[in-house]
Amino acid sequence: MPTVLITGANRGIGREFARQYLAGGWRVVATCRDPAQYDLEGEVLPLDVADGASIAALAERLSGEAIDLVVNNAGIGGPENSEFGHIDYNGWAETLRVNLMGPIRMAEAFVEAVARSDMRKMAFVTSRMGSIADNSSGGEYAYRTSKTALNMAVRSLSIDLAPKGVICVLLHPGWVKTDMGGKSAPIDAATSVAGMRAAIERATKADNGRFLNYEGKALPW
Ligand SMILES: NC(=O)c1ccc[n+]([C@@H]2O[C@H](COP(=O)([O-])OP(=O)(O)OC[C@H]3O[C@@H](n4cnc5c(N)ncnc54)[C@H](OP(=O)(O)O)[C@@H]3O)[C@@H](O)[C@H]2O)c1
Repeated sequence: MPTVLITGANRGIGREFARQYLAGGWRVVATCRDPAQYDLEGEVLPLDVADGASIAALAERLSGEAIDLVVNNAGIGGPENSEFGHIDYNGWAETLRVNLMGPIRMAEAFVEAVARSDMRKMAFVTSRMGSIADNSSGGEYAYRTSKTALNMAVRSLSIDLAPKGVICVLLHPGWVKTDMGGKSAPIDAATSVAGMRAAIERATKADNGRFLNYEGKALPW
């Protein structure tokens, strides 16, 4: 039975990843800031991805285990004021801590656990909002840059971890009905996650470091 570790598993896309992997017979290690908020089966452990000590405590708790897949899903939309002329710089810094440094710190903490597994994969939930080529509407300085930088960092990671046989993929979930995506989003979490799971499943060494959408199509950087 393969093992998946998911960040931000208590709601939205992360919860749907947990639900679908449980249904698929996987061992799910769900993590979230407040484990009491997690309402599915499987193990749940506390994790705040913005807090290095919290990541270290989780790694210590799981030390020696093999983790086939880490789904770095936890993320925030950025501060309310992220438009030019009104930028909340503390909020921007917090967005980078959660969306950019959190997933990379997770990779540092769990690389050996992933490397000793059969599948050896790390998935990073990013956003098309981080695509420079796709930015035709401006604004959203905090969220956009957090995902652009995540894309670059994971590209480096894919090169650095290749000798260990670890495959890293960047996944855009689409615009999804969640607390972050809102009610007008066209895609439900079940459809988005089913697509991302299939893309993760299909990923081979040739996909290491690629930026894909939930249908598995390459997106422009
Ligand atoms: N929804 C969309 O349309 C969309 C589009 C593109 C990309 N994405 C990306 O998809 C991912 C999931 O988004 P979502 O739509 O499911 O958002 P969501 O419904 O707002 O859920 C966000 C999740 O991240 C967790 N989280 C936030 N900060 C955290 C931290 N410091 N440590 C641990 N967990 C933390 C939240 O936990 P709490 O409950 O404790 O806050 C929650 O579980 C994000 O990376 C987001 O950027 C979403």
